[in-house]
Amino acid sequence: MRRPGSIRRPSTHREIPMRAVFKIGDRAMANAFSDSSLKDLEKTYRANQSIIVHGGGDTVTKIAEQLNIPQKFIVSPEGFKSRLTDEETIDVYTMVMGGKVNKKIVRELQRIGIPAVGLSGIDGGILQASRKTRIIAKEPDGRRRVIEGGYTGHITGVGEQLLETILSEKFMPVIAPIALGTEFEPLNVDGDRAAGQIAAALKADLLVMLTDVEKVLVDGKPVDHWTVEEARSSLPIIGPGMNTKVQAAIEAVTQGVGRAVIGSSAGESPYSKAISGEVGTMITL
Ligand SMILES: Nc1ncnc2c1ncn2[C@@H]1O[C@H](COP(=O)(O)OP(=O)(O)OP(=O)(O)O)[C@@H](O)[C@H]1O
Ligand SMILES: [Mg+2]
Repeated sequence: MRRPGSIRRPSTHREIPMRAVFKIGDRAMANAFSDSSLKDLEKTYRANQSIIVHGGGDTVTKIAEQLNIPQKFIVSPEGFKSRLTDEETIDVYTMVMGGKVNKKIVRELQRIGIPAVGLSGIDGGILQASRKTRIIAKEPDGRRRVIEGGYTGHITGVGEQLLETILSEKFMPVIAPIALGTEFEPLNVDGDRAAGQIAAALKADLLVMLTDVEKVLVDGKPVDHWTVEEARSSLPIIGPGMNTKVQAAIEAVTQGVGRAVIGSSAGESPYSKAISGEVGTMITL
């Protein structure tokens, strides 16, 4: 595995300012929006075009359970975890992701002087998806079960026009991972994959996925750098939660995003350090 220092960015990518998409997971949020991290984000926003895509799965689960709507999760045969999203759950998902979580982030950013605009993937057709009709779950005993897809979606397209307009006016988009289905229904889409597809559509230089671990681990050892090929061959041994990030990184980089970084929101200056390549696992072509 090569060290990050040996990586040369492709010359076709913008030098300054960079365009960066930051995915902030639920578990990364407390650190990502602490006072000191917010100062770092403000500095990053001044120097670069920045877009935030957020998660919020734990908050959705908490609120749903308070509403007596028990949440169920499945793991696919490939090892990807997903929420079983029936009609009641998609309503809670939309309210919590697009409302509570999204607006909290927008408020925090405005407090520090960042002109943030909260959106869901439904707005302006940012995230278009097709509904999964069937999903396959792998039971703990190894057996496979076919389940109705409910309101989960597979991202089929990104409408980047609204985002380009917002960025050109120096606002910062903050996007909740809710997509618009072909029947104009709301769909639950994975936040990491949404961030990866948005980064690709916006021809971003960088996709950063901040979470609660410092690097991807393989056999307990941290990975500094992977090529897309290395990432792809290790994917089957990466656990749920992290595997969607690695998959999103592969998708983004193969579609032209200069590099993807998976790292922690803890520690000093998580945004600038991810940009400078000092922290996290970096994935490049
Ligand atoms: N090989 C691995 N290396 C590192 N972390 C791993 C690995 N396999 C699984 N994980 C888990 O992946 C988790 C991160 O993904 P997770 O989906 O839980 O968080 P998130 O994406 O930041 O939040 P959210 O899903 O709410 O947006 C880590 O906490 C870790 O436990
Ligand atoms: Mg996750």
